[in-house]
Amino acid sequence: MNRALEKAMPVARTLRLLASLSRNHLPLLAGALTSIVVATTFALAVPIAARGNRGLDLNSLEKIDNIFLTLALISVAIGVATAMRVYFINRLADEVTNDLRGQLFSRLLVQPLEFHQQQPSTELLSRLTSDIEHLRIAIGVSFSVAIRSGIMLAGAVTMLFITDPGLALLTIAAIPFASVPIAVGSKHLRTSARDYNDLLAQSRVVAAEALGHIRAVKDFAREPFETERHAATLNASVSGARRRTTWQSVLTALSLIVMLLGITAVLWTGTHKVMDRTLSAGQLGQFAMYAVMCGMAAAALLDTWGALQRSAGATDRITAFGDLPHHEAQETRLVQALQGCIRFENVDFWYAAAPDRPVLRRLNLDIAKGEKVAIVGASGAGKSTLLSLLLRLHPVRAGAIFIDGHDISTFQPASIRNAIGTISQAPAIFGRSVLENIRYGKLDATDEDVRNAAVSSGADAFISELPAGYDEPLGERGARLSGGQQQRVAIARALLKRADILLLDEPTSALDSHAEQAVHDHVFGTGTGPTTLIVAHRLQTILAADRIVLIDEGAVAATGSHEELLIRSARYRDLIRPQMQAMVE
Ligand SMILES: Nc1ncnc2c1ncn2[C@@H]1O[C@H](COP(=O)(O)OP(=O)(O)OP(=O)(O)O)[C@@H](O)[C@H]1O
Ligand SMILES: [Mg+2]
Repeated sequence: MNRALEKAMPVARTLRLLASLSRNHLPLLAGALTSIVVATTFALAVPIAARGNRGLDLNSLEKIDNIFLTLALISVAIGVATAMRVYFINRLADEVTNDLRGQLFSRLLVQPLEFHQQQPSTELLSRLTSDIEHLRIAIGVSFSVAIRSGIMLAGAVTMLFITDPGLALLTIAAIPFASVPIAVGSKHLRTSARDYNDLLAQSRVVAAEALGHIRAVKDFAREPFETERHAATLNASVSGARRRTTWQSVLTALSLIVMLLGITAVLWTGTHKVMDRTLSAGQLGQFAMYAVMCGMAAAALLDTWGALQRSAGATDRITAFGDLPHHEAQETRLVQALQGCIRFENVDFWYAAAPDRPVLRRLNLDIAKGEKVAIVGASGAGKSTLLSLLLRLHPVRAGAIFIDGHDISTFQPASIRNAIGTISQAPAIFGRSVLENIRYGKLDATDEDVRNAAVSSGADAFISELPAGYDEPLGERGARLSGGQQQRVAIARALLKRADILLLDEPTSALDSHAEQAVHDHVFGTGTGPTTLIVAHRLQTILAADRIVLIDEGAVAATGSHEELLIRSARYRDLIRPQMQAMVE
């Protein structure tokens, strides 16, 4: 019993999900249910109508004409009701899956960065596409077939008993015997179909990765290598498909044989009854028609059950997202106007993926309003991590970070990010126009503001030379721009915000000295600009800052001016010496 319940669970979960999603589309649901019931009822009436009111009377032409007129009317009614069913069910399926795609996408976006760093984006994309497609099929096909077959089966069984109770009992008794081979076959079909889907998903991941990194594939001339890898997964999925198709054919044969044998047996028994005159020929015809309906409905129900179980994996993954939080964090407190003082107090941090490898250890740092601070340190020292903690992209594990004296963990994350201008280490360019890319920093900025920000970052010059200027689409991930041009677009985007805190992670690494100087002049210009943290490897940038902070072993190892650090910190001298030698030479 328990096992049966367990087996039924996925189907129950699918049905619950469908029910909750259909709630917003009750008219469509009502239309679908009504047309299913109407069409099925008319279909059930066919055998009765075919026999006429009081049995088939072959001597009255008028009665025969009436019977066929009724049949013609029923045919039209069945046609119309079926068309309505197709319309309503498919509309319902489309609306529901549309809702679901929208909900799922927005829910995924609000998950913390850590969530996304642990899930491959191809897997999330497949939730949005193929899993939801499974569900659409479950609604569009399985759902309507199940209801129709359920009504059909109940009606046909009732009619069997009304027509001839004895023969009906005999027919029903045969069902368990007939369903055993079918049940075994469908179990195998189910597992092989699941294997096939998993294998296909693997080949999708391989393809997505190669296409996503097409530049690296070409750089290393690895087209044949990737083709091989993809072919290997495809081969696996094709043998999976072969197993699935084999079981599908076996199952089709089994169902057909069982059904046809059953009907033969019923007709045989029935014919004996007709010979004994306990049943009329018309009644036998009617009985046979209902028996066929019974068989078809039972087979369709079994089939739907299988289809729903096949979609159970997809439903499970979709319902799992329902358990994800709606917001990244609970706090609703908003950041008001910022002064821009920053304070790190005994901050400990490690990434969830590597809890035994601390990145920051009891780090303390005070930055005054308007101060321009260069963060330096070896590669992997934790500089980018430090900036991401300030944006609340990750929670500190111990200690706290304060902005203007307020612990940032008490603010809504989005509100902090809205108040801070930032450029990450790898400029993120969208495949949209230049204008849209820069305006991403402040959605309500005027074209004039966007242009000014582009002038400040030195982007305006090359943008004006693009064929469509600011409306030029930049290609996937900015593929149509040079590395330095991408960086200047990203700088313009950050400057556009006019934030009181600016976090720059090696923003000028791809710029020539001239362009770099122009950005420095703007960022470090005179007057009380924003408080600025700039991660820097290049001496030119480091020298432009008010103060230098050296990060080493997860803590602040030294802080002061370039001259002070040269005297005080051996670590700093090691870090900077190669560049100073290069300058001297
Ligand atoms: N998402 C992550 N999961 C686990 N470990 C990470 C993650 N991101 C970074 N790390 C590790 O944390 C440490 C600090 O990384 P971080 O990116 O802050 O270094 P960085 O100082 O910015 O280096 P670089 O100068 O090379 O940019 C590194 O050892 C890195 O391997
Ligand atoms: Mg970094």
